[in-house]
Amino acid sequence: MTPALAVDGLTVGYAGAPVLDDLRLEVAPGEVVALLGANGAGKTTLLRAASGLTPPRAGRVLLDGADLTALSVEDRARRGLAQVPEGRSVVTELTVDENLHLGALWCHPGRAARRAAVARTYDLFEPLARRRTSLGHQLSGGERQMLALGRALLARPRVLLLDEPSLGLAPRVVAQLMGVLRTTARETGLTVLLAEQNVTSALSIADRGVVLSLGAVVADAPAAELAGDPTLRHAYLGF
Ligand SMILES: Nc1ncnc2c1ncn2[C@@H]1O[C@H](COP(=O)(O)OP(=O)(O)OP(=O)(O)O)[C@@H](O)[C@H]1O
Ligand SMILES: [Mg+2]
Repeated sequence: MTPALAVDGLTVGYAGAPVLDDLRLEVAPGEVVALLGANGAGKTTLLRAASGLTPPRAGRVLLDGADLTALSVEDRARRGLAQVPEGRSVVTELTVDENLHLGALWCHPGRAARRAAVARTYDLFEPLARRRTSLGHQLSGGERQMLALGRALLARPRVLLLDEPSLGLAPRVVAQLMGVLRTTARETGLTVLLAEQNVTSALSIADRGVVLSLGAVVADAPAAELAGDPTLRHAYLGF
């Protein structure tokens, strides 16, 4: 089967030695992969190279077998490769409802279709429904993260890249976000590459875990195996 997302021979660096060296990773359609590893392991660098934010020194990024390496961030997004922006960026001067309608603009033509798609997002994220007239800057961190994820999902991406969505959120909100990702992947075939320090949460919804260390993949195993094997956990995940 052609992977939904593949990076092949990816080498990325800033100055000096590369941060990622000849990295190869494939994510199958509908698969949720947890991207794990210590601080500085290269998780963010991998996501940014995949989405086009950081140009690689070498290697290719493929979406459903098509080479996107030469495309801009915007063109990759148009093809269905989306990264939820860091810092939970939402349009702070717009209301929750306006933010969501913006997310739905291109993929849900017509007002009725947009309204229905936004309504489904409120079903997924109930706290947002109670805040629909609040401005972006009035939201809590968790609400902002839900809005960022809700907006990204409304654009119906093929592959979603997420960089530590759980950062700073209460456990209950993390569980809710993870649950939505799992459900969406199962129901729509969305493919997810999820970089997380919150290893337990990420592995609880992932099909597979991939551990990065010093620019290379050092473990690649079914999530349950990675979470359940004390030797693997201790060696690569530090608990
Ligand atoms: N813009 C940059 N310029 C120079 N070096 C960078 C830059 N961004 C990251 N690095 C370096 O690249 C390495 C990998 O960083 P990266 O942010 O990808 O790690 P990470 O796995 O996401 O870590 P964390 O868990 O802390 O988010 C680190 O050594 C970091 O210092
Ligand atoms: Mg990071």
